[in-house]
Amino acid sequence: MLTLEPSLLTIAYLVAAVLFILSLRGLSSQESAGSGNFMGMLGMAIAVGATLSNSSLSAYGITIAAVVVGGAIGLFLAARVAMTAMPELVALLHSFVGLAAVLVGVAAHLSGHSGTVVSIEIFVDIAIGSITLTGSIIAFFKLKGSLSGNPMLLPGRHVLNLAAVAATVVLGVLFVKAGQSDTALVYLGIMIAITGVLGMHLVLAIGGADMPVVVSMLNSYSGWTASAAGFMLGNDLLIITGALVGSSGAILSYIMCRAMNRSIVNVIFGGFGAKPKAKAKSEGDEEQREVDEIDIDGTVEALLHAKNVIVVPGYGMAVGRAQHAVREMTELVEARGGRVRFAIHPVAGRLPGHMNVLLAEAKVPYPIVLEMDEINDDFPETDVVLVIGANDIVNPGAQTDETSPIWGMPVLEVWNSKLVVVMKRSRATGYAGVDNPLFYHDATQMLFGDALASVTEIVTGLRAEAKAAA
Ligand code: TAP
Repeated sequence: MLTLEPSLLTIAYLVAAVLFILSLRGLSSQESAGSGNFMGMLGMAIAVGATLSNSSLSAYGITIAAVVVGGAIGLFLAARVAMTAMPELVALLHSFVGLAAVLVGVAAHLSGHSGTVVSIEIFVDIAIGSITLTGSIIAFFKLKGSLSGNPMLLPGRHVLNLAAVAATVVLGVLFVKAGQSDTALVYLGIMIAITGVLGMHLVLAIGGADMPVVVSMLNSYSGWTASAAGFMLGNDLLIITGALVGSSGAILSYIMCRAMNRSIVNVIFGGFGAKPKAKAKSEGDEEQREVDEIDIDGTVEALLHAKNVIVVPGYGMAVGRAQHAVREMTELVEARGGRVRFAIHPVAGRLPGHMNVLLAEAKVPYPIVLEMDEINDDFPETDVVLVIGANDIVNPGAQTDETSPIWGMPVLEVWNSKLVVVMKRSRATGYAGVDNPLFYHDATQMLFGDALASVTEIVTGLRAEAKAAA
């Protein structure tokens, strides 16, 4: 096996680190995302290749076997996972990073070390890893729906969290002092248990509506864990990539918090300032109220006469895989002179950029896909808004109902337009589990049915009209 001199190894790691930075830059816009991805893959190939050529590596067989088995599992999972289940997968992957950090840290301790700094690095690596591990597992089950999305707010929870942090610091001091003795391992074990419970408690205290931020925060934690492991192992590339993941995750969390009008402190410290909701208006409260319904012909008719149309896609468009039919519908409306644009809420769907990815896949042109802030003032001049499988992101209750879990979250103000057609299968609530007063608004007409079936029928109707007019 070819081995690299330490100086060449450092250069290879530096090249890989620069490629990772360029990759992040590329991923910041849809046009350059493809090349960004490519640079990331190239950087990773160089990093893995250089690591395998490290002259201090001797266990080639087991290392290559681990890469092959891990790669095969990753390939299998990535090929099978539905786009809508992506956040769960990401949460699960973060838990693996946490687990790896704990195992590498314990292994480093067991294989013997000396010096206060190394002991601190090992302790910090394991502590962040343990929080990331259990926090991510809870996030996985919450996103999967196996655990309730309601925040679990224990009385005195902040005192409990502070006590756990204080105990961890004390154990850290004892661990450093104990050096290589058996008691050091006992301190490590107690700390893993305490930080593990802390990770669970922090995420359990966060409500369903804030879960997108939690996933991105855990992403950030997993980066800092990797960085701490880099210090412990003396691996510069791990330090740099860990810091990149840690800081980009933290920046994304901040951006998402701003978009959802949430406090970042609230998210990090789990339900800080969150009160149990007095009465979250749920579906049952509104059962008796009437909604206005529209059928496919009515929707086609409205689209034939509309000059300005805005499509608001949400999670249901992803579930129904309706994006290609939506693009066809857009082309037909544009062909008869209508203007169609898309309004994208920052947390539409189940992962950041979810709607942008689906629309790009369906080849909807980027210039007509606008962010919430760019289009929210245009609804009063809009003739028809098609809300396709979206719910929480168009809920006026976020502005009017202080008891709502989404109170304060900026939403797309679709109700200001002349006609809102809400396309979904039933009156069921969205992710946050709250009723949507939009359904009962004067401007709203409900078009019940699966998103793909409804949009396909609208396309058929528009085609028939176009043929008749030709
Ligand atoms: P939601 O509020 O979850 O609403 C989606 C709606 O789609 C549901 O009410 C559902 O109603 C409908 N639907 C489901 N399958 C459908 C189908 N096949 N055809 C038609 N409609 C269908 O989605 P949203 O408005 O996109 O809001 C996103 C929510 O997810 C926010 O609360 C956000 O905080 C949260 N969240 C976001 C992320 C990120 S990062 N984007 C991550 C995790 C959570 P029916 O059952 O009646 O059809």
